[in-house]
Amino acid sequence: MTLTGAGAAFKKLEITDVVKSYGSKCVLDDIDLHVSHGEFCTLVGPSGCGKSTLLRLILGQEQSDQGSILVEGQPVGFPDPYRGIVFQKYSLFPHLSVLDNVLLGKHLTHQRWWMPWRRQSDWKEEAMSLLERVRLAEAAEKYPHELSGGMQQRAAIAQALIMKHPILLMDEPFGALDPDTREDLQIFLLDIWEKEQLTIFFVTHDLEEACFLGSRLLVLSQYYTDDRGNGPSVNRGGKIVADHSLKNSAGSTVIKDQVEFRDLIESVRREGFSPEIRQHVDNFNLNHPDSFRTLNEY
Ligand SMILES: Nc1ncnc2c1ncn2[C@@H]1O[C@H](COP(=O)(O)OP(=O)(O)OP(=O)(O)O)[C@@H](O)[C@H]1O
Ligand SMILES: [Mg+2]
Repeated sequence: MTLTGAGAAFKKLEITDVVKSYGSKCVLDDIDLHVSHGEFCTLVGPSGCGKSTLLRLILGQEQSDQGSILVEGQPVGFPDPYRGIVFQKYSLFPHLSVLDNVLLGKHLTHQRWWMPWRRQSDWKEEAMSLLERVRLAEAAEKYPHELSGGMQQRAAIAQALIMKHPILLMDEPFGALDPDTREDLQIFLLDIWEKEQLTIFFVTHDLEEACFLGSRLLVLSQYYTDDRGNGPSVNRGGKIVADHSLKNSAGSTVIKDQVEFRDLIESVRREGFSPEIRQHVDNFNLNHPDSFRTLNEY
């Protein structure tokens, strides 16, 4: 995607009236979402509510059935380096060393049979400095199978960061890690986000992780009611049922012990995770300044 100076006038990401179905099953049901530059959005919701589907649409790996997705004002196309993605696993190639895994994106986006030595040396320097930041410099020549799960995810994050993707998508990147490693990487990611002013879209089904990370918490859920009734013909897909501003900052996990934090987790649980407690669409908790209902009022 080529951007012009005018791009700055647009929201980083504008999702409007997006509907996505697989066969007769509606998965995403009229999604509206505007995201500003530098926002760190966490997207949380029950299994099967469409979190990964939404990420695939933003990535350009799949197309929506209705609605539009604009990145800096331009319709999203096929996947390109403007958007990077980190998955829970398998982001690394097993036959490449950690360093070569980090350098891979650079080589793939500059597909030439010959590359000036100077350029390659700059890339290597950049990759090593990133590996230092993720505390993997010592493991640069190792292969993925020689690393722990946490080390592999740190390498996958370095692999994404070297590409300087203006939007970084992460689909449960810490899902397979033990709690201590997970918390360590949460703090690491918050720190990088603050320093690099990245725009991040982070999917998790872990409520504590969603409430701790980032500047904005989106709850996607298929558990809600509307005026369509409750008959078997009503095919409700996931909607954004809550949109919270978060004030968390990097470096401290103290917040996790505070009453407000535990209260937020409980409200998110009620807002989106219980088939027994369903909010009506008119009562969704969309209190973030960029949330669609607020935008509509202007
Ligand atoms: N390619 C596909 N073909 C058919 N159905 C699909 C496809 N991809 C996803 N689905 C269905 O769409 C729904 C949403 O899937 P999705 O993977 O987006 O959920 P999710 O919120 O990421 O869930 P999880 O938390 O388990 O990862 C599920 O019912 C899933 O079975
Ligand atoms: Mg998923």
